[in-house]
Amino acid sequence: MENRLKALREEALSKIETTSTLDVLNELRVAYLGKKGELTALLKGMKDLSAEERPKFGQMVNEVREALEVKLDEVKDKLSKAALELQLKTEVIDVTLPAKKKNLGHRHPNNIVLEEVENIFVGMGYEVVDGPEVEYDYYNFEALNIPANHPAKDEQDTFYINNEIVLRTQTSPVQARVMEKGKLPIRMIAPGRVYRSDEVDATHSPCFHQIEGLVIDKNVTFADLKGTLAEFAKKLFGEQTKVKFRPHHFPFTEPSAEVDVTCFKCGGKGCRMCKGSGWIEILGCGMVHPHVLEMSGIDPEEYQGFAFGVGLERITLLKYEIDDMRLLYENDVRFLKQF
Ligand code: DAH
Repeated sequence: MENRLKALREEALSKIETTSTLDVLNELRVAYLGKKGELTALLKGMKDLSAEERPKFGQMVNEVREALEVKLDEVKDKLSKAALELQLKTEVIDVTLPAKKKNLGHRHPNNIVLEEVENIFVGMGYEVVDGPEVEYDYYNFEALNIPANHPAKDEQDTFYINNEIVLRTQTSPVQARVMEKGKLPIRMIAPGRVYRSDEVDATHSPCFHQIEGLVIDKNVTFADLKGTLAEFAKKLFGEQTKVKFRPHHFPFTEPSAEVDVTCFKCGGKGCRMCKGSGWIEILGCGMVHPHVLEMSGIDPEEYQGFAFGVGLERITLLKYEIDDMRLLYENDVRFLKQF
């Protein structure tokens, strides 16, 4: 039995020593020292020994157990340290690697152009004001000299909420709201959404944006209107830009005009963008109709003014040479990222 114990000791020590994983080490601990382990089996065989031999052999078994336990702990220590070192090595963070790119949001082309337009007018001393999108029929039509039987009031063009309330079809009602307050002079622009019961195609949308402009003061003339819009066009499309005023009709201005700018693509020679004419229409304008001033409580003998209305999408499409308005509303990042 003594020989068996010695052999077991040698075998166990060498196996433990050469173990390379913690799992196998644990298996060895169970195999030798566990309840059903080999050392326990030897202890059970002690009953065959004589009374004098028993304590001696018992002591020897305990010594072997201790030796194995020391060895097991030692190897366990060694393997744990190695595992930790390996982990530290493989999980190291290389701070010199290029950073992952964050996908930042992007401003909408409409907003980029709107800010540009706002900056131009703020630079000329204009205030930026807001008005409601859900508007009284009165401000959207009547206060702007648009009579009840006017074709613009047709249900096909206007979203009616009820008899008195509509979704504004233009930003012009903000003119009446500001004039009505009675604080003069006025120099303002009013950008915002407008709604028309239109079809959806490359140039039409039921919801789009306009920028309204209004100036009311003493001694304001059509020359002031021309000078202001000529300056606006130059700042927006470039110094070389020229403007042309074509007589037109709007119910709330008299006289009224539509304004064309020289094509900023071909400089006026004629190209695909300006359909060969060299000119591009960008807005409507005119001198505020005396009747409109009166309805808002302003004396037309004392005060005059001019107004204009710009379609924001129209300018955005032109500036960026986008050929379909629907692209502006789809919010496809691949499209938006280009501006
Ligand atoms: N409200 C007009 C429209 O929607 C645009 C417009 C034209 C506004 C002339 C004005 C103006 O202020 O003077 O078509």
